[in-house]
Amino acid sequence: MQIFKQIAEIKNYLRTEQRNGKSIGFVPTMGYLHEGHLSLIRRSASENDITVVSIFVNPTQFGPGEDFEKYPRDLNRDIQLAQEAGAHVIFTPDTVTIYPEGYKTYVEVQKITDTLCGASRPGHFRGVTTVVTKLFNIIHPDRAYFGQKDAQQGIVIRQMVRDLDMDLEIIVCPIVREADGLAMSSRNIYLNPEERKQAVVLFQSLTMAKDLIVQGEKNAYKIKAAIEKKISEKSLAKIDYVSIVDMETLRDIRQITNKTLIALAVRFGETRLIDNIIVEV
Ligand code: PAJ
Repeated sequence: MQIFKQIAEIKNYLRTEQRNGKSIGFVPTMGYLHEGHLSLIRRSASENDITVVSIFVNPTQFGPGEDFEKYPRDLNRDIQLAQEAGAHVIFTPDTVTIYPEGYKTYVEVQKITDTLCGASRPGHFRGVTTVVTKLFNIIHPDRAYFGQKDAQQGIVIRQMVRDLDMDLEIIVCPIVREADGLAMSSRNIYLNPEERKQAVVLFQSLTMAKDLIVQGEKNAYKIKAAIEKKISEKSLAKIDYVSIVDMETLRDIRQITNKTLIALAVRFGETRLIDNIIVEV
């Protein structure tokens, strides 16, 4: 296991491996790893000679008043879990390494970053696309692995890669859930026991939506209303958004098709949780 904090050093190491014909898989993370992250690392390890995991809590994707300072961190545990899942290289730079004094350049994907999480977190995706571009430039992966948990993030990254002719494959992997259906997230530890109990309503409301669609309901407004009603029954839940959108344009749709994404964000106290399903009809 190789652990790097400096850009020049990891570049040097990986370029040598690439000259020797090794393929590189990359899993960007903000750490505090759970089974969701580990599923990406395992997938990468099964498809590439070398798997690189970055652990970097990226300040530019957090808005003012968001949880950058208190975002959970446990580097030693992360290193061990990543290694057990098949990672060969960890990149864990300091903030000033990624954003040195005088840093001025940002990457922005337009339009599809204005909706869903982009609407409630202005500037968030600009921070994501900027750091992911930098990480891609440092690591030069053949393949990079993202989770369907952050559905919009995956769509935005794919668009960026296409638009900027980046030479790698983006692979989006399924959502890993807790036994009761709650999507795994580093932020779940913020939930108190009652919030944690109620949070399962996210998955339950998406499952209900799926059932309604299977039973023949195709009207997106009705499905959205049913989801909102179910979530509102939980006393601690505050809906940020429930959206039924086209998977490519992320625009609201009226009728369910097989390219439909149902995505939602709900607050429990200070904690904002997201979840989604892709509808197959
Ligand atoms: P982070 O939230 O740490 O997530 C890292 C990767 O793990 C993302 O691709 C995310 O979609 C995936 N992931 C998280 N929970 C998952 C789950 N339950 N099932 C499957 N995959 C899951 O996303 C980020 O970090 C950052 O925005 C980053 C891309 C690293 C840029 O800073």
